[in-house]
Amino acid sequence: MKDVRKDFPILARHPQLTYLDSACTSLKPLQVIEAESSYYYELGACAGRSSHMLGREASNAAEGAREKVADFVGAKAEETVWTRNATEALNIVAYGLDYSKRKKVVTSALEHHAVLLPWMNLRDRGMITLEIVGCDERGHVSEEAWANAIDRNTALVVTNNGNNTSGVSQCTKNLAKIAHDSGALICIDGAQGVPHRHVDFRKENFDYLCFSAHKMLGPTGIGALVMKREQMAKLQPLVRGGGTVKTVNLDRVEPVSDYTRFEAGVQHYSGMIGFAAACGYLKSYGMENVEAHEKALASAMLGELEKAGVAVHGPKDLPRSALYSFNIRGAKAHDVALMLDKEGIAVRSGFFCAQPAMEAMGAKDGAVRASCYIYNSPDDVRKLGEALKKIAALY
Ligand SMILES: Cc1ncc(COP(=O)(O)O)c(C=O)c1O
Repeated sequence: MKDVRKDFPILARHPQLTYLDSACTSLKPLQVIEAESSYYYELGACAGRSSHMLGREASNAAEGAREKVADFVGAKAEETVWTRNATEALNIVAYGLDYSKRKKVVTSALEHHAVLLPWMNLRDRGMITLEIVGCDERGHVSEEAWANAIDRNTALVVTNNGNNTSGVSQCTKNLAKIAHDSGALICIDGAQGVPHRHVDFRKENFDYLCFSAHKMLGPTGIGALVMKREQMAKLQPLVRGGGTVKTVNLDRVEPVSDYTRFEAGVQHYSGMIGFAAACGYLKSYGMENVEAHEKALASAMLGELEKAGVAVHGPKDLPRSALYSFNIRGAKAHDVALMLDKEGIAVRSGFFCAQPAMEAMGAKDGAVRASCYIYNSPDDVRKLGEALKKIAALY
């Protein structure tokens, strides 16, 4: 596999660092950092507004970036809206959808708070009914359980295509079919799916796909919401303001009809350019290579965790990215994370913004999570295993 470590300035600055926290945020290669800063060096102006030379160049750069990010997930630029992150994309869907004909939304207990909180809020305000499908004892929701919950009153099914607590990816193409067979829409939280395998919006037949740049080598503060055009036309924007209207009189507003309706105010242009560069970087690495690399790391990591005798949460036998959450029996997760930090290993500890999921998997006080990306090697995983053995011996 191609060695990409040299592209990541943080790894050059900390040659001894084992970064196993990519599910929180990935490191960024020089190509992305340079692309993002090129906006400030070369463009500097607003896109989509001013007709002077720099304004036109900024518009071209922003629209070129939109095409690249859309293409990365098999979508078209006109189906793609910039957001701050996956969280904002999910909120746009939650608060923009019309629930007047069908009131029910179906999700699962294994979702990130970015999914649970907006729809729980709508439930608590009496705007929808929410069915939260439970998981089995392994921490998995079967297709049968989904199918039992989705019915002719379901407006929307919302779930992830990569779980941030267990690393498992569900077959969302099948879920889309189950949803559509009942006349429901499907919204995919792609925050942990899009970075780790090739996701095709059209082929998998999603209605909405939400993802963040920063988990896939891109900048923070920029994400995307991809929508089928007919769904985009019906969705209400979450934020209103400059850049979203054709005309405004004091008694009437005529909004634009395209994606810019959702992009009120001056936007994160440097982020868009950096996001497109991240997609370009991953494309040239090859998403099939990302998947193969992680598959090998996942099986090596499971071997190390088992040798170290830690309790691993979630299913071990399902398609996944190289991410596991686990506990050393008798040890607090935060203490383990701090001890790993002393060994130069960066991991996350806690509930990973998915408390119901962690509790459902039996990690009532949280856990430690190690997650890999393309710059990790089998050595990183071995180092984790060795350190965990030493820490486990203290308990
Ligand atoms: C599965 C999942 N969904 C949504 C999010 C939210 O992503 P962001 O914080 O980039 O909006 C995360 C972030 O950790 C995640 O792991």
